[in-house]
Amino acid sequence: MNIALVGYGKMGRLIERTALVRGHVIIAVIDPFAEGVAADGRVIGKTVADIGGGVNVAIEFSSPASAVGNIKALLAAGIPVVTGTTGWYDQLAEVEAVAKATDGSLVWSSNYSIGVRLFLKIAAFAANAADLYEEYDIAGYESHHNKKADSPSGTAKTLVEKVLAAQTRKTKAVYDKLDRPPAKDELHFASIRTGSDPGTHAVFFDSNADTIEIIHRVRNREGFASGAVRAAEWLAATPRRGVFTLDDML
Ligand SMILES: NC(=O)c1ccc[n+]([C@@H]2O[C@H](COP(=O)([O-])OP(=O)(O)OC[C@H]3O[C@@H](n4cnc5c(N)ncnc54)[C@H](O)[C@@H]3O)[C@@H](O)[C@H]2O)c1
Repeated sequence: MNIALVGYGKMGRLIERTALVRGHVIIAVIDPFAEGVAADGRVIGKTVADIGGGVNVAIEFSSPASAVGNIKALLAAGIPVVTGTTGWYDQLAEVEAVAKATDGSLVWSSNYSIGVRLFLKIAAFAANAADLYEEYDIAGYESHHNKKADSPSGTAKTLVEKVLAAQTRKTKAVYDKLDRPPAKDELHFASIRTGSDPGTHAVFFDSNADTIEIIHRVRNREGFASGAVRAAEWLAATPRRGVFTLDDML
C-alpha cells in the first residue's frame, strides 16, 4: 500500500515506522513545519497539493486548525483519508458533506487504540453477562500520571456509559469520593493520579465469593499508530465510500 503521511510530528513519525514494518511504502510526507526528510529519504512537502500520483491512502495526524483543510483537499483529490487529529469535530457535518459530494472515503477516530476498543466491548459484554447474577456488584477505577489535569478520563466516561447501558442494576455513575455506602443503583468509579502511568482503566464485578476484574493498561503510543495503519489497510483493501469510524472497522 502506498501511503501519504499528512502531519509529521510525534504520531506521523511513529505511524511511518509502523507502516514500514507492516510492509507499506511512504510515498509522500506533507508537513509545512517539519524539518528534513522522512525515514526512507523522501522529501517533505508543504501542502496536500504536493502529493503526487499513486497514493492508496493518506494518514492525517496534524493539528486541529489544519485538519479540516487537509481532509477536504485530500477528498477533493480522490485520496481516501484516515485522520486521527482531534479538536475539529464541530466541523464534522461539513466534512461529511464534502465526502458525499466527492464520493470520497474517510475514517476518523479520536482514539485509534484497538486495545481500548476491544476493552470497551469486553467490559460491556461482561456487564451484560453479569446482569443475570445479582450477587455481582460493579465498580471501576482509572489511573493516570500525576501531570494529568482532569478526572475522570474521557475513556473512563465512555467505559462507564457502555457498562451502564449494558446492564440494568446500575443506573448512574458516582466519580467523587463517597462518605456513605453507595446506593444499589450507583456505579462507583474512582480516579487515581500517580507517577507516570500513561493510562489504566479497570472495571470489576465483585461477589462474596470472588472478583472478576477487566483491565486495560496503555504502555505507549504504538497502539494508536498501529490502529491508524490498520484502519488505512481496511479502507484501501476494498473501495469503501463514505465516512466511517474505528467501530465500523472493528
Ligand atoms: N486519534 C488518536 O488515536 C490520536 C492519538 C494521538 C494523538 N492524536 C491527535 O493527533 C494530532 C497530532 O498529534 P501529534 O502528537 O503527532 O502532534 P505533534 O504536534 O507532534 O505533530 C503535529 C504535526 O502536524 C504538523 N502540521 C501542522 N499544520 C499542518 C498542516 N497544515 N499540514 C500538515 N501538517 C501540519 C506540525 O508541523 C506537526 O509536525 C493531535 O490532534 C492529537 O490530539 C490522536
